[in-house]
Amino acid sequence: MTAEITKIADALHNSPFMRACRREDVPFTPVWLMRQAGRYMPEYRAVRASMDFLELCKTPSMAAEVTVTAAERLGVDAAIIFADILLIIEPMGLALEFSKGEGPVIHNPVRTAADVERLREVEEIAALQFVFDAIRETRRALRPNLPLIGFAGAPFTLASYIVEGGASKNYVHTKSLMYNDSGAWHAMMSLISRALIKYLNAQIDEGAQAVQLFDSWVGSLSPDDYRQYVLPHTRSVIAGTKPGVPVLHFGTGTASLLELMREAGGDVIGVDWRVRLDEAWKRVGHDVAVMGNLDPVALFANQDHLRAQARSILQQADGRPGHIFNLGHGILPETPVENVIALVDMVHEMSQES
Ligand code: CP3
Repeated sequence: MTAEITKIADALHNSPFMRACRREDVPFTPVWLMRQAGRYMPEYRAVRASMDFLELCKTPSMAAEVTVTAAERLGVDAAIIFADILLIIEPMGLALEFSKGEGPVIHNPVRTAADVERLREVEEIAALQFVFDAIRETRRALRPNLPLIGFAGAPFTLASYIVEGGASKNYVHTKSLMYNDSGAWHAMMSLISRALIKYLNAQIDEGAQAVQLFDSWVGSLSPDDYRQYVLPHTRSVIAGTKPGVPVLHFGTGTASLLELMREAGGDVIGVDWRVRLDEAWKRVGHDVAVMGNLDPVALFANQDHLRAQARSILQQADGRPGHIFNLGHGILPETPVENVIALVDMVHEMSQES
């Protein structure tokens, strides 16, 4: 390595976000926001006016542009690659569409053991080459010391889309398959997990400094069901990612699952706003980092309220190394941009006061 490359690698490795993932001390609390590139941002809406969502995901130069623009505009401490957790289901043989107003739709959902049999093993992760190209382009365009987060859906959340065929309230089809045919369920979860390991490791190879698993809908499960039907799979994915690269393990509605999520693994456990951050951290253990946990709707309040809420979260973190500030879930589409920018500044400013 030349001296210049060593210097850049060092700056990335020692960036506040990466240091916090490893629970090392930081000059200020690093912050990034789930869905930081999205419809609340006029620059994003302008791009979306000329191409649909899947086309944007599959056009590396544009996905890179959207990723970099969001990170720079907000002044956050990490970028997250613009993509979607559902991209990986296409090479499994599922027909994915994002319909206007309805969110994702899978036209051939998996409901039976025979459907599980028809799922394709993702042998060639090159089917998602556009994501890897976007990561490489983004890495080149980003400030050299700004980490880039790769991501994937966690096995349960992906399975819920695959089985329901879209968003769901009660996960009736998903849980029916789980309860009625646990053999087919575990076969499907294993197939998903094998694909995820390849996918995450390829993102790491292309330049992601950390990876996040989104288990957005795992909060619909009882702790016993999580342990039996989900934990072994999530654990295998986390254990299968390249050592030395932090894994952020995120879910929502997880107040009763935090210890089990910790058991499944991850260097950083994501926490939503329905739990106090101090309690959540105590429960998962102070020997792991945490991320969170502002209510995304706090961004609709006036800035005094926003500041008070952000301050409360920083106080709960209590200056302990290993806190990454984030929302408890993604930024909502109508969120005022100026409040998002103000929040990032507030976190930086308040975490330097002592
Ligand atoms: O965080 C980021 O800025 C990176 C990009 C990102 C998107 N989706 C872009 C996106 C990430 C990390 C995701 C993850 C994702 N996708 C999750 C997990 C996170 C979460 O919110 O729980 C889930 C469940 C999905 C599946 C998905 N994709 C849904 C349910 C929807 C529809 C949501 C809606 O409000 O319409 C999407 C579409 C999607 N993914 C959008 C964006 C910016 C909106 C698409 C648009 O431009 O219309």
